[in-house]
Amino acid sequence: MKKILCIGAGYVGGPTMAMIAKKCPQYQVKIVDINAARIDAWNSDNLPVYEPGLKEIVESTRGKNLFFGVDIDESIKEADIIFVSVNTPTKTFGFGAGKASDLQYIEKTARNILAASENGKIVVEKSTLPVRTAESMERILNGSNKGFRFNIVSNPEFLAEGSAIADLENPDRVLIGGHQSKEGLAAVEEIAKIYANWVPREKIITTNLWSSELSKLTANAFLAQRISSINSLSALCEKTGANIDEIANAIGKDTRIGSKFLKASIGFGGSCFKKDILNLVYLCEHYGLPEVASYWESVVKINEWQTNRSVKRVLRSMFNTIAGKKVAVFGFAFKANTNDTRESPAHLVVRELLEERAIPVITDCKALPDAKRDLNDALDKVQLTEDPYEAARDAHAILLCTEWQQYRDLDWKKIYNSMSKPALVFDGRNILNGEELKKIGFEFISIGKA
Ligand code: NAD
Ligand code: UGA
Repeated sequence: MKKILCIGAGYVGGPTMAMIAKKCPQYQVKIVDINAARIDAWNSDNLPVYEPGLKEIVESTRGKNLFFGVDIDESIKEADIIFVSVNTPTKTFGFGAGKASDLQYIEKTARNILAASENGKIVVEKSTLPVRTAESMERILNGSNKGFRFNIVSNPEFLAEGSAIADLENPDRVLIGGHQSKEGLAAVEEIAKIYANWVPREKIITTNLWSSELSKLTANAFLAQRISSINSLSALCEKTGANIDEIANAIGKDTRIGSKFLKASIGFGGSCFKKDILNLVYLCEHYGLPEVASYWESVVKINEWQTNRSVKRVLRSMFNTIAGKKVAVFGFAFKANTNDTRESPAHLVVRELLEERAIPVITDCKALPDAKRDLNDALDKVQLTEDPYEAARDAHAILLCTEWQQYRDLDWKKIYNSMSKPALVFDGRNILNGEELKKIGFEFISIGKA
């Protein structure tokens, strides 16, 4: 039985390997991590990642051909193929701080693979990495005189959180990049063979290593750019009486533009868009392309401006004074159907509310544990509750930050009756029926509507 190892049991490593285990019973799949608590959680009923459908897959494969552990060296030794899915955050110190990728976890993993291996293996870059990272990986892995060689393959992941299982089950494409040598092409085929167990061959794209690495960064940049484009126009709509949903619908009908990723919002969040675009900006600067760098940097700048201006708009409509007032924040996850709060716009909103000395009361379907961790320094100034009705009671305003379906289906009349008046709803995701809410008596503000 061929052995696949994944180093990094996070939002990508966990779901991708669970899917491979499900679709490929002929492989043994193991996931390891330095974070023992996370591994314990993967081995429990309370998985560390919430994704619709994930628990069922883990439960049906765990202990059969899917395993989680902390025995990293032993697992490396036994593996034939190693996927590297460790985190690659933005560097916070030294050269390139604030833009470049912090590759310390990748580098440590490469050194670990080299030290623990007793034969050559295929090493797959699953993490999102700056273009030409494989070159550095190779310098580490093949720079010793151990007498065997490693083959590096790039296989970036395109899943989105909240829909990870559906994305993995039926991906738009699988991208695999490798060296165009005999060994490189054979390694690419070895990885393609895994996916071919459930992904049609025509969806498995193969390229050279650098195209694959750079395609991942630029795919995220293009997606984020669409959100910043529509969000920039939402501001113009608020001034002119045009309606951003109507505009998105009208322009999205042009098949050259397309209808997806045109939902105006308080801003995009998540662990990847901002960091990947900043990494792209850094790369452009590094390669002497300042104009290209500033073009992409503006996508991130508009995003920050969008969140800030939204909070200011709410403040203005509350007479610029919310000190001492209870303000309910509906949703803390960066999007619906995930427990992930990394770079969540809701977090920024809560920080602004705290600056204004309001009392934020936060509710979320799945993300309260992470919210508690993120607000660790301010737990005496915020309240957390799973119950949205409880969050809204006596509040002066509700700021809807995450598009959980549950928030559409609430008894808004009951909520109105329990709030301080005038009661304001700010819909930061454009999911609520504003006309209905106004009829109930709410003051209503949403993104991109006057
Ligand atoms: P994550 O932080 O959830 O998981 C990374 C894991 O790697 C952590 O559990 C960490 O403990 C572990 N790790 C770090 N160094 C290690 C080491 N030396 N040995 C063993 N384990 C180690 O991150 P994530 O969201 O899964 O993202 C991983 C990568 O995938 C990133 O490069 C990200 O950009 C990319 N990516 C993420 C998504 C997403 O939706 N989250 C989608 C596509 C690509
Ligand atoms: C994104 C990409 O969609 C994935 O393809 C990619 O693999 C992943 O980044 C990654 O590299 O990590 P993710 O960040 O999980 O996935 O979630 P998205 O669905 O892209 O949403 C990102 C943010 O944009 C969320 O805050 C979401 O609410 C917001 N968004 C999305 C909008 O504001 N409007 C939209 O129309 C779409």
